[in-house]
Amino acid sequence: MNTQIFEKVGEGKSMVQLNVRPDGVAVITLDDPNEALNTITKKFGDDLLMAVERVERDSQIKAAVLASGKKGSFVVGANIDMLKAIRRAVEAEELSGTLARALRGLNAKKPFVAAVDGPALGGGFELALACKAIVASDDKKTVFGLPEVQLGLLPAANGMLRIAQRVSIQVALDLALTGKNTRPAKAKKLGLVDEVCPKEVLIDVAAKFALDLAAGKIKKKPIKLDAETLTLIALEKNPAGRALLFKKARQATRAKTKGHYPATEKIIDVLETFGSKGFDAAAKLEAASFGELVVSETARELIGIFFATQALKKDKGTDAPSVEPKKVSEVAILGGGLMGGGIAYVTIHAGISVRLKDKDDAGLGRGLKYVREILDERVKKKAMTPLERDQEFAKLTATTDYTGLKNADVVIEAVFEDLDLKHRVLRDAEANMKPDAIFASNTSSIPITKIAAASSRPENVVGMHYFSPVHKMPLLEVIQTKKTSPQVVATAVSLGKKQGKTCIVVNDGVGFYTSRILGPYMNEAAYLISEGVPADLIDRALVDWGFPIGPIALLDEVGIDVAAHVGPIMLAEFGERMTPPATTAKLIADDRKGRKNGRGFYLYGDSLDSSKSARSSKKGKKEIDTSVYKTLGVEPINIKVPVEEIQQRCALQMVNEALHCLGERIVRSPRDADIGAIFGLGFPPFRGGPLRYVDSVGAAEVLRRIQGYEDRFGKRWTPAPILLEKARENGRFYER
Ligand code: NAI
Repeated sequence: MNTQIFEKVGEGKSMVQLNVRPDGVAVITLDDPNEALNTITKKFGDDLLMAVERVERDSQIKAAVLASGKKGSFVVGANIDMLKAIRRAVEAEELSGTLARALRGLNAKKPFVAAVDGPALGGGFELALACKAIVASDDKKTVFGLPEVQLGLLPAANGMLRIAQRVSIQVALDLALTGKNTRPAKAKKLGLVDEVCPKEVLIDVAAKFALDLAAGKIKKKPIKLDAETLTLIALEKNPAGRALLFKKARQATRAKTKGHYPATEKIIDVLETFGSKGFDAAAKLEAASFGELVVSETARELIGIFFATQALKKDKGTDAPSVEPKKVSEVAILGGGLMGGGIAYVTIHAGISVRLKDKDDAGLGRGLKYVREILDERVKKKAMTPLERDQEFAKLTATTDYTGLKNADVVIEAVFEDLDLKHRVLRDAEANMKPDAIFASNTSSIPITKIAAASSRPENVVGMHYFSPVHKMPLLEVIQTKKTSPQVVATAVSLGKKQGKTCIVVNDGVGFYTSRILGPYMNEAAYLISEGVPADLIDRALVDWGFPIGPIALLDEVGIDVAAHVGPIMLAEFGERMTPPATTAKLIADDRKGRKNGRGFYLYGDSLDSSKSARSSKKGKKEIDTSVYKTLGVEPINIKVPVEEIQQRCALQMVNEALHCLGERIVRSPRDADIGAIFGLGFPPFRGGPLRYVDSVGAAEVLRRIQGYEDRFGKRWTPAPILLEKARENGRFYER
């Protein structure tokens, strides 16, 4: 076989290798010698162009296949280090233009076919789309997606435009605005992919496809579209229909983003230009928009989060470099309620056997049903086959006694939130566990040190604080006491990562990190209510600021009883700063626990239905139970308080408490504080987290605002010492 390696003199090793097969198909292999995965860089574009030129020049070559040299991964997108280093919009615009030109070269006289095995994301997907056809492996890892929007960017190598051209504007909008992944079968159905085959024959199938294209045997198969898609395409083809489509897309997007994510607006602009003025005009706008976005504040914060999560993937959770996590082959879970069930699911989904224990059959039945329902849902969504579901479910066994506990490497406790019960369960478990197995508690509020007081092996006790619903929430807060061994921490972190979680390690203390910073945030919302601010006004203000749910609606979800239980504990530990308003006690006296008993700030179940039918109000919209104001003895008439004040008072309480936690070393770093608040509590990602928010506003300005509230409201606004320090030094938490 004739092999040529492309090397650009003086610029290091080539990323592109070319082999000509005896059948006249050139296989171009993309393989970045310096990275574990292929990413798109400027050099990549240059090397690719050289390969394209070679294919065009060589009369022995009839067609070409583009494949990856990385096992199980095609190309995962633009190199984000490269993007981060860009300081001026025009640099990014030029880069986009260069890459787009390189990809346009693939539309050569001889057909290029992309052979995709593993993820083809962002620029990787755009690269595949620039070929005449895409052949994909049916491997589990193979997915197509345009995730740029998640970094505050847009796909900048004309991929959206090619999807709009090849399939429809609607599909391009959907993929670019959501950043979601599409599996090969779905991609083929949509017309994005031409052929799907097992990975073992991928190159051969792609080569045959390329030869057939070269010989004019396949024109490009017409896609069989369903009636709904055909209607949409018909809609796109006429200007009035298109205008309607974009109007709807803008409305739906703004409702979700509240205008905080400019990339979404630009994606719509580019595709609208494509619809009205064609490919070239849209490509120009795309490059210019990319330039603006790359240097925008939003992209900077979102890219910061991306790097933080990447760093956390590599972080073992302990600073002791020699410590390695222990292997976890089996996990036992005590308590099959909402949390125990969820933890059981993410554990079997990670391929680890689970022994689930509850106090009675009813509890176990609920736990098993919960897991089964999640699995069934995944089958329904075609995310797994019925066989895979059955294999996963078979990893879960159940018991009402401690049989089988001796096989567990980690025992996770998720029984009721009651210290005596937790002590009893811990002692019973230790009597039945392997001596070196780990005992982890999923308590949401009891300090782990208190739980570990009942243990004969406190070095093996750790906190693993999951969030509800466990299979959807991305964070795991791992809590170490002064006695927890570093290896136990590392093992908890390693298990959490296998369960698909982003893990932060925090030091023990009341409320750990996340519950602690949530406390004053929720308290402030309750103070606003006691001042007569309507609850729905508060919720709307914080949702507009970027939280996924307002603090009052969240209180109903978490449970007013839970907040009432934690409030006095926080007050005892942290003093006046955490003084809860008198409202909570009144709510509890009126048996208002929130959603769980259908009585809270909002209406639920029957009372909601009857109220809605009486007023024929919109389906799915939440409504305040106005009788709650009577319970509280307040009149909700204070509607003049500025929205910015509501937003700042609640958000800055969370920010100030995060600063206290950093100063007290509850969290290990600004990175962990930001990730914990975003992934655990929904702090607006585009603001980068509480500490990045301080950096963007400026420590002195944040201090000025907090001191203003301290003058008005007193001690609950005591600024964190670390904020005073940063304000004095004009310092930052992150380098620019
Ligand atoms: P839950 O009430 O849904 O479930 C508790 C389960 O424990 C029940 O199935 C019960 O039968 C079982 N149980 C009670 N005593 C037991 C014993 N001796 N042995 C075995 N099982 C026993 O409660 P949920 O919401 O799952 O909470 C469990 C723990 O997780 C609590 O410590 C809670 O604070 C914590 N947590 C809860 C979160 C939430 O959002 N619900 C979030 C994070 C932590």
